[in-house]
Amino acid sequence: MQLLVIGSGGREHALAWKLSLSPHVHKVFVAPGNAGTAHEPGLENVSLTSIPDLIEFAKKEHVTITIVGPEIPLAEGIVDAFHAAGLRIFGPTQQAAQLETSKLFAKDFMRRHQIPTADYASFTDPVLAHQYIDHSAIPLVIKADGLAAGKGVVVAQTHEQAHTAVNAILVEGHLGTAGNEIIIEEFLQGTEVSFIVMTDGRSILPLATSQDHKRLNDGDLGPNTGGMGAYSPAPFVSPDLHARILRDIIYPVVAGMKQDGMNYTGFLYAGLMITPDNQAKVLEFNCRLGDPETQPIMLRLKSDLFELIDHAVNGALDSIDIEWDRRTALGVVMAARGYPDNPRKDDTIHGLFELISQQKDTHDFHVFHSGTRMGGLEDKEFVTAGGRVLCATALGENIKIAQQNAYKLIENIHFKDYHIRRDIGYQAINHLKK
Ligand code: AMP
Ligand code: GLY
Repeated sequence: MQLLVIGSGGREHALAWKLSLSPHVHKVFVAPGNAGTAHEPGLENVSLTSIPDLIEFAKKEHVTITIVGPEIPLAEGIVDAFHAAGLRIFGPTQQAAQLETSKLFAKDFMRRHQIPTADYASFTDPVLAHQYIDHSAIPLVIKADGLAAGKGVVVAQTHEQAHTAVNAILVEGHLGTAGNEIIIEEFLQGTEVSFIVMTDGRSILPLATSQDHKRLNDGDLGPNTGGMGAYSPAPFVSPDLHARILRDIIYPVVAGMKQDGMNYTGFLYAGLMITPDNQAKVLEFNCRLGDPETQPIMLRLKSDLFELIDHAVNGALDSIDIEWDRRTALGVVMAARGYPDNPRKDDTIHGLFELISQQKDTHDFHVFHSGTRMGGLEDKEFVTAGGRVLCATALGENIKIAQQNAYKLIENIHFKDYHIRRDIGYQAINHLKK
């Protein structure tokens, strides 16, 4: 059978690659995909992005299930439109996706359903927001309500920074309508963990835990990015904490959405802060898989991903198990110089063809593409085409070896002035030393 994956990043490359390994799957279309998905056996790029075009394509090619990678099509209602056309698709409806698309919706939902999260207040009036800041202790976290491609959150270390953020979002409108309303939130200390599950609206299947590295530079310094690297599993999540996260956060979210008349199906990503007293609190929800978390998670997944998604779409997740490689997987993002603000583009990437031929014979490592395209002489070279370019991902017996293996992959790849973090996985390594 044929599947369709929507998106063009490393997450979608990893998803489509894993789906293509299923014996049930003949071909995975990726819309629009990247140069990595173009060179992957069993995958085929289709240069379509509009929802009506994708529906027409899915019908014409008898696509069995469509899987949505990024949040934008979900926010635009792609799931509702596919359902209306009688097509099978895995992801939340536009209404349910509000858990990610409106931070205010998510916070009010959590308050209503007693799901642990930072205390907050919301504002449309900058005068009231400024007053609130004057009466609050710092640090404070200022968040725009709507989708802002990672630019909607300011962690203010001083009152002045908090006032400036309010003015930028509410008064000067730097984020457009995404900033019509803001949340001012209590700052939470601790360790961040990504907790991702699949749900059919009733049953829940947790994926392996993971940790992202959101800041641009080593030691978690520099600006926020989409994520500079990730690994799985996150050793901070003990079996006891894992059970509490499911009991106190994940199950109440899925049950609460159902109760509120917005049955949630799809991947659900809870960005959690594990506080020093070992409690999990929600920082944010995403209505999709994480990027780059998906890349190491897919490398560890032993089960047939198609079968998992097929069961989820049929409302039968309770009748399937999920199996993981017990090794650790770690992915390092290679970004273009200037990322995240103004990444350089159109540089030739060397070394990928050799790696592609090596990774045909093993599932122990994989270089997933994000911002790449074919270019150069006769369009036969890989060329950079975005901020995050590649994610070199490898398995290892433990976090240290997975880290070594991933950085060894990078030694084989070169493009001009690329930027990587050298410390992906450091928190897990420090944790094991303790
Ligand atoms: P978000 O998009 O809400 O996950 O926020 C982006 C990043 O800001 C998170 O990954 C955290 O590093 C940080 N952050 C958000 N909310 C808080 C908070 N309440 N306390 C501390 N850090 C936060
Ligand atoms: N890696 C964080 C995200 O996908 O939102």
